[in-house]
This record gives sequence, structure tokens and C-alpha cells, in this order.
Amino acid sequence: MKTNHWITLCAAIALSTSASIASAAGDAAKGEKVFKKCKACHTVEEGGKNKIGPNLHNIVGAAAGQKEGYKYSKAMANSGITWDAETLDAFLKKPKAFMKKTKMSFPGLKKEKDRQNVIAYLETLK
Ligand code: HEC
Repeated sequence: MKTNHWITLCAAIALSTSASIASAAGDAAKGEKVFKKCKACHTVEEGGKNKIGPNLHNIVGAAAGQKEGYKYSKAMANSGITWDAETLDAFLKKPKAFMKKTKMSFPGLKKEKDRQNVIAYLETLK
């Protein structure tokens, strides 16, 4: 009886640890829902049009401010940033804190989970 309890307990610990590792990376399906907040200004499909903001196809791994046919702020065009999980996280948390003169008028995603999920979603746009 006692041993059985230990086995159950260990299994429970193992399960909860692996669950937290999986969620740390972000969930693209949930991120697609978060992205509804971005859709007013951004398209995602390949060759999609620029709206208020640039098309975001293939944005992860790309240099910031370089989408053809879109007129960026000077701050973005000359930032020299490459978009990866880290820079996107900092930018999306509070765009104007990360890049003072960006023209992206978006207050930011306060919840870390929302940012992780939306970045996971952006990573699927290849
Ligand atoms: C109100 C419109 C608006 C909303 C909402 C918005 N953006 Fe933007 N976004 C912009 C504009 C405008 C720019 C260009 C900024 C500049 O040139 O300084 C931009 C730029 C970006 C860039 C940099 C693109 C590049 O080519 O370097 C990323 C990444 C981005 N937005 C992601 C998002 C995400 C993700 C969301 C939702 C969480 C979002 N944006 C919500 C308007 C918006």
C-alpha cells in the first residue's frame, strides 16, 4: 500500500514538471487567439498586404523594419534588431518602452503567457 502511494506521488510530480516545461515554450494555437488583438493592423499570410502595420509572414528570424513596400518609423527601420523570442518578448510587452519612437500604437501584452503563445504562433508563419 505504502509503496503504491509513492509511485503515484512520483508520477504526479513527473507529470507536473513536464507540463510546466511544455507550457514555457508557448502554445501556437492559443497564440493564434491572442493574435486577434493584432489583426486590425497586421496580416500574416505570405505576400499579404501591409495594413496599418507591416505583413508579419516569416517575421521570426527576420531583421526588423525591412518588409518591402512598408513605410516604417525611422526608429524601427534603423533599429538593427533581429526578431527572435527574446526581442519579440521585450517589444510586445510594451512596444514604446522597448523602442521609444516606434509607430506601433499598441499598449502591449502584459501577460507573459500571452506573449509566449503569440510568439509561438508567429514562429509558425513560415
Ligand atoms: C494599432 C495597430 C497595431 C496593432 C494592434 C499591432 N501592431 Fe504591430 N505594428 C504596427 C505598426 C504601425 C508597426 C510598424 C512600427 C514602426 O515602423 O515603428 C508594427 C510593427 C510590428 C512588428 C515589427 C515588424 C517588422 O517588420 O519589423 C512586429 C513583430 C509586430 N508589429 C507585431 C505585433 C503583434 C504580435 C501584435 C499583437 C500582439 C501587434 N503587432 C499589434 C501596428 C500595430
